[in-house]
Amino acid sequence: MIVGICGSPRNGATEYVLKDALATLELNGLHTSFFTVRGKQLGFCRHCDHCLKHKECIINDDMKILYGLLKQAKGIIIATPVYNGGVSAQTKTLLDRCRALLAADPNVLKYKIGMAIAVGGDRLGGQEPAIQQIHTFFILNGVIPVSGGPFGANLGANFWSKDTLQGVKDDKEGFRSLKKTVKRFAEALNRIEIKTKEVKKDD
Ligand SMILES: Cc1cc2nc3c(=O)[nH]c(=O)nc-3n(C[C@H](O)[C@H](O)[C@H](O)COP(=O)(O)O)c2cc1C
Repeated sequence: MIVGICGSPRNGATEYVLKDALATLELNGLHTSFFTVRGKQLGFCRHCDHCLKHKECIINDDMKILYGLLKQAKGIIIATPVYNGGVSAQTKTLLDRCRALLAADPNVLKYKIGMAIAVGGDRLGGQEPAIQQIHTFFILNGVIPVSGGPFGANLGANFWSKDTLQGVKDDKEGFRSLKKTVKRFAEALNRIEIKTKEVKKDD
């Protein structure tokens, strides 16, 4: 299963392009799940360290749904709108709250494949720093980040929405970067599956 996580508080451009990516993966035979922060109860990490002692988060909210999805997923897509040149506060909250998941099992995200999507209202509004923040989260926690590669999708999928849904729909370059990134994401998922099977056979 692939989990697509949307860090926008509304049904806007970020949700639209993430759903496009998930639909492409479904067409290629992969099962996907969609999680959005929209309408969810999600508290900030309080750094109370309850999770370090008790291996679960003290906050009882909708992160529980995401914890379950992240455990199951073999691939993770995080899509964020660009807020002040970085990820949205909602996206950052999700990343921080994963501390509890990792406190319970530091290997829980290891060798999953990750990709990032950033949607900014401006052409150069901070999409790449936002993607890099997501990639840093991946690297920190053992997720293997992929991009779409050079010549079109250097760090991942990035969009220029001009602050409207129509703007993102018209962003041909953005969709090119998404297509390239999704392709490499699917390839990486395939490779890791073959490798895992080989290791199991050797055991
Ligand atoms: C608080 C806030 C800060 C923003 N900061 C930026 C920014 O730094 N750079 C940018 O390109 N767009 C910025 N935007 C615009 C959004 O990234 C843009 O409208 C995006 O398409 C929103 O995605 P959504 O429709 O999925 O919510 C900001 C929007 C908000 C609400």
